[in-house]
Amino acid sequence: MTDPRDWLRRDLRHSWHPYTQMSVLASEPPLLIERAEGLFLFDAEGNRYYDAVSSWWCVVHGHGHPKIREAVTRQMERLDHVLFAGVTHAPAVLLAERLAGLTSSALPRVFFSDNGSTAVEVALKMSLQYWRNVGEGEKTEFLCLDRGYHGDTTGCMSVSGVESFRSGFRPMLFPARRVPAPDCYRCPEGRTPQACAAACARAVEEKLREAGGRIAAVILEPLLLAAGGMIVYPPSFLSEVARLARSFGAHLILDEVATGFGRTGSMFACGQAGVSPDFLCLSKGLTGGTMPLAATLTTSKVYEAFLGDPAAGKTFYHGHTYTANPIGCAAALASLDLFGENDLLARVASVAPRLGEAVRSFARLPKVGDVRHIGMVAALELVRDKETKEALAGEDPVFRAARREGLRRGLFLRPLGNVLYLFLPQCTTEGELDEILSRFEDVLRSVLR
Ligand SMILES: Cc1ncc(COP(=O)(O)O)c(C=O)c1O
Repeated sequence: MTDPRDWLRRDLRHSWHPYTQMSVLASEPPLLIERAEGLFLFDAEGNRYYDAVSSWWCVVHGHGHPKIREAVTRQMERLDHVLFAGVTHAPAVLLAERLAGLTSSALPRVFFSDNGSTAVEVALKMSLQYWRNVGEGEKTEFLCLDRGYHGDTTGCMSVSGVESFRSGFRPMLFPARRVPAPDCYRCPEGRTPQACAAACARAVEEKLREAGGRIAAVILEPLLLAAGGMIVYPPSFLSEVARLARSFGAHLILDEVATGFGRTGSMFACGQAGVSPDFLCLSKGLTGGTMPLAATLTTSKVYEAFLGDPAAGKTFYHGHTYTANPIGCAAALASLDLFGENDLLARVASVAPRLGEAVRSFARLPKVGDVRHIGMVAALELVRDKETKEALAGEDPVFRAARREGLRRGLFLRPLGNVLYLFLPQCTTEGELDEILSRFEDVLRSVLR
């Protein structure tokens, strides 16, 4: 077997890791993961770590679930890949039917792609072209949230609001209208949660009015601004934004790339607000966290606006090489089967409150300014001063210490700015949750002083 140090040396020679200052990797080498099973990642030395971030918010049923593995193997033997223009195949047909069914056919049209960013780009471009196709070509702008995050491609960056992901690329971005994030800890309206009434949605109304009918779509992540700092906001804000978008004649694009498939407690987070969007963007958990696949779901009304004579210029000229990859579709179908077989949403419903209760008790720890929880996600925002809520810098040594202590205690954590969080697989049992929480608490007690 090759010495782990040799893998790391070779990695440093040729790889370029995402969101990573490569100059520090020599002194802080990446973790060499050899295999994964269930909730665990195993390193080359045989140490095991709870995957407390679901490998970038993807894993649903645990790593290497035999049912998904079998489905992928079977599909690989039959049809590995084929283009999806002028061709179709059973896994894509079945998956599109299943996804449409999950929206009770409110969103019966499914456009496949291969990652979260492409799912969002598709929605942005479809919305824009829809308005042109129906003769309302003046609707060319987008309204989005500060602290929203939708991916790293140009359109996604343009409608995102997390500066660290955008600021270096400003010259290639298009302008978008923005409103403050519904961040209840630092309420933009100065309200308390008790007197909230989603007053911050007024800013959305003002922007829509100011734009004078030029907004093609409002885009946001429902209930959880994940990369923006695990900000959890009330369903009333979402339902009010949905109402406003409708009344101002703009589409609503909901990005459920991170929140979809039970992560927040319901199949899709928007269900908790009783909202059905014009576009629903899905990826990550779509395949249970095993394969790159994405889908953008939309309404019949949108779809029909693209029909017509081929020469009429209404066709949606967008596609990706791996659109509807059969193996990805097979993995997604197996993953959806597991929701039913394991009654997964009911399991989340019984485990999630325990997660919320436990993390709320961490509020008393030093430096913990805010505690947030939804479904299988829990986050602690660390501050310099609990009174003033002055944020702790993301570079503060406490975050590196938390990661290191986590690893020492068999817990893989990846702090996000000034936020420490757990983003757990939906299959996590009560016993496993207790174990994860006890390790997390040990990490917190050792690094928060
Ligand atoms: C809400 C949301 N949208 C889009 C994306 C982009 O997904 P991908 O990294 O697969 O392009 C992410 C990634 O974290 C996300 O959290």
